[in-house]
Amino acid sequence: MRAVFASALDRDDPLRGLEIGERPEPEPPAGWTVVSVKAASLNHHDLWSLRGVGLPEDRLPMILGCDAAGLDEDGNEVVVHSVISDPDWRADETFDPRRTLLSERHQGTMAEKVAVPRRNLLPKPPELSFEEAACLPTAWLTAYRMLFTRGGVVPGSTVLIQGAGGGVATAATVLASAAGARVWVTARSEDKREQARKLGADEAFESGARLPERVDVVLETVGEATWAHSVRSLKPGGTLVVSGATTGGAPPAELNRVFFQQLSVVGSTMGTRDELERLIRLCVEKDVRPAIDRTLPLDQAREGFEAMLTGKFIGKIVFTV
Ligand SMILES: NC(=O)c1ccc[n+]([C@@H]2O[C@H](COP(=O)([O-])OP(=O)(O)OC[C@H]3O[C@@H](n4cnc5c(N)ncnc54)[C@H](OP(=O)(O)O)[C@@H]3O)[C@@H](O)[C@H]2O)c1
Repeated sequence: MRAVFASALDRDDPLRGLEIGERPEPEPPAGWTVVSVKAASLNHHDLWSLRGVGLPEDRLPMILGCDAAGLDEDGNEVVVHSVISDPDWRADETFDPRRTLLSERHQGTMAEKVAVPRRNLLPKPPELSFEEAACLPTAWLTAYRMLFTRGGVVPGSTVLIQGAGGGVATAATVLASAAGARVWVTARSEDKREQARKLGADEAFESGARLPERVDVVLETVGEATWAHSVRSLKPGGTLVVSGATTGGAPPAELNRVFFQQLSVVGSTMGTRDELERLIRLCVEKDVRPAIDRTLPLDQAREGFEAMLTGKFIGKIVFTV
């Protein structure tokens, strides 16, 4: 079957190991099933994998992709929840120390077919296209959990979202706006700021700009480049939710400000099956849709990876099968 996969790892030149070609069809173990993929979306996670972060050499070749929407073995339209926990794990799946995402230990979604645990399938509502549904399981689910589960955002909260053009950030902008929050974003370019306003941001600032006032919650996925600004932008008692560190994971911690302003620094990772179910319902009921930068056939996936590597995109990049 056709697939997009990593055949080599390179920290500095991640696209060197990116291949599009033939891979064997999946053979599902007991309790697993096979989904015929209609659409899969690209995440920064796929670039990390190609750099060798979370993907050791001995697991290559590895089909990339965490997210998919497609048809199950009975022809039902489904969305794949990418967090695979131990079959005996009964609590929040994201707290399972042995959890894994598709494309880390098991072959990923950027292929004609993918094997997944049966319990990781959710019905795709007819209101969402396969392309839209394929955006939800990683970037959108992460944004949902950051805002509502971990960040405690409520109607009227002021939320700052760093790096507005990204997949998680565009999702957070749309979701926070739909939830009645006041949404402020930062982005490095005016076209991304303009796009963020169209998606629902009330104000869009240059990265690092002084804000008119301090905010209740900051959503941080950029890391070193924006961390100090995030800490300084919070009200006393505010909450910084972090789920990613694209530009580096070891900024100065700003400890004096953290304790003196009594800030909460909260980690967040992916989301549960229940949260994905609620997110899907929210999209349908409130007519919320993912911002898709471009849709490409699987065979042209390299163009999408290049756009993500150079930052020349806004929102989600989707591959169709
Ligand atoms: N923990 C989890 O479960 C989880 C889930 C999803 C994602 N993540 C992580 O979160 C991060 C974002 O993921 P994503 O898929 O949304 O990635 P993405 O779509 O590639 O977005 C990255 C964004 O970071 C911003 N950025 C990059 N370099 C920057 C710099 N030097 N200065 C300021 N901003 C910069 C850019 O914003 P602008 O160009 O708009 O300024 C860019 O749009 C990744 O590191 C990813 O691994 C973690």
